[in-house]
Amino acid sequence: MNLGTPWPAGAVRHDDGEVSFAGVRVGALAAQHGTPAYVLDEADLRARARRYREAFEEAFAEIGTSVEVFYAGKAFLSVAVARWVHEEGLRVDTATAGELAVALRAGVPGAAIGLHGNNKSDAEIRTALEAGVGRIIVDSLVEVDRVAALAAEAGVVAPVMVRVTTGVHAGGHEHISTAHEDQKFGLSLAGEDSPALRALRAVVARPELRLVGIHSHIGSQILDPHAYELAAERVLALRARLHAEAGVLVEEVDLGGGFGVAYLPGEAELDATEVARAQARTVAAVCERLATPVPRVSIEPGRAVVGPTTATLYTVGTVKPVELEDGRVRTYVSVDGGMSDNLRPALYGAAYHAEIVSRRSTAEPVLARVVGKHCESGDIVVHECELPGDVRAGDLLAVAVTGAYGRSMASNYNLVPRPPVVAVREGTSRVLVRRETLEDLLALDEG
Ligand SMILES: Cc1ncc(COP(=O)(O)O)c(C=O)c1O
Repeated sequence: MNLGTPWPAGAVRHDDGEVSFAGVRVGALAAQHGTPAYVLDEADLRARARRYREAFEEAFAEIGTSVEVFYAGKAFLSVAVARWVHEEGLRVDTATAGELAVALRAGVPGAAIGLHGNNKSDAEIRTALEAGVGRIIVDSLVEVDRVAALAAEAGVVAPVMVRVTTGVHAGGHEHISTAHEDQKFGLSLAGEDSPALRALRAVVARPELRLVGIHSHIGSQILDPHAYELAAERVLALRARLHAEAGVLVEEVDLGGGFGVAYLPGEAELDATEVARAQARTVAAVCERLATPVPRVSIEPGRAVVGPTTATLYTVGTVKPVELEDGRVRTYVSVDGGMSDNLRPALYGAAYHAEIVSRRSTAEPVLARVVGKHCESGDIVVHECELPGDVRAGDLLAVAVTGAYGRSMASNYNLVPRPPVVAVREGTSRVLVRRETLEDLLALDEG
């Protein structure tokens, strides 16, 4: 029986109660790769990448323009994943020297890579220019001059986009809302002579820079397909303003990422076709109203491509019933990982779904909390879920939808080595990122 949402597409529970991911049983995965481990369904990831590309290409072709989909590597990036998304026709959005290095190692051409970041170092910008990246997204006025100077030094013309702050408040949590005024990203649109307009003029005036477009990313884990409309309107109005003022028509607008996914059973993720059509309708209507030609469009999904494709496999170590003040009993289930492999519950209070995947149980479910092994009472993996009352040490427990901002935000808190990322496909498994060892950690220690 297929497990369904929110599990990876190839997750199945067999008659004997054991679960397999893309044909690989969890017992075999644990025996071969150990736990904790991130288990990534390759076919699901490729299908999600294709779905976003096809939905947006179709919707924007209908309004007479083209679209580029950039996979946001910050969600999770490895050489194989960069190669897969590129093979599926996506480009790659990077935000640091590390992400850029992985994308280049995967053979993604520089022209298919974008470099983001609100505080890029000169070294990162130089590497990006050397690699011939397709766009550098500038995030401040000083950065316009910095990129121009480094482009002159390299003897190249740098393709840049200007990131603007549209003033739209969106996103699943304050920390992942990135377009309201009081936050670090982008240039404000506020005022007659806005910082965004000044940056665009500054780019146009620099021969070392080629203005590729205007960029906006409003936030993450967005579930309302209409959340993007206001941001698109404001970006297109800015484009029309620059055109009227300086005769420069910006070729492209990047409407960012942030497409939400389902984390819990019964939840619905943002539908790619629905949001693509909503965005295309808005772009067409606003351009008609402003009497400007429709631009090329790009988007940057991360979570929606990789998030649901991955589950984290843990081993239960300790089970402890705790009586609460109201007399209820909460069963604390400790696993062999924790906030070091999934920071989102602690950082954002994010909700996750967990199940025992190594066997079927007929025991009455209990109110449970899945916690980690770290020295922190906030070290919670799943705040609240139901688990079988006979949950016990040695059980394999999986947590769904850990593909995005899981491994990429992992740490070595308490000097716990980071888990491997294991890809599964058609009954086989292979390591994409190997497990860190204590030797790896000690190798960093100069003694
Ligand atoms: C500029 C930019 N683009 C794209 C993304 C990807 O967002 P998501 O993974 O929610 O699609 C982010 C996430 O923080 C971002 O900052």
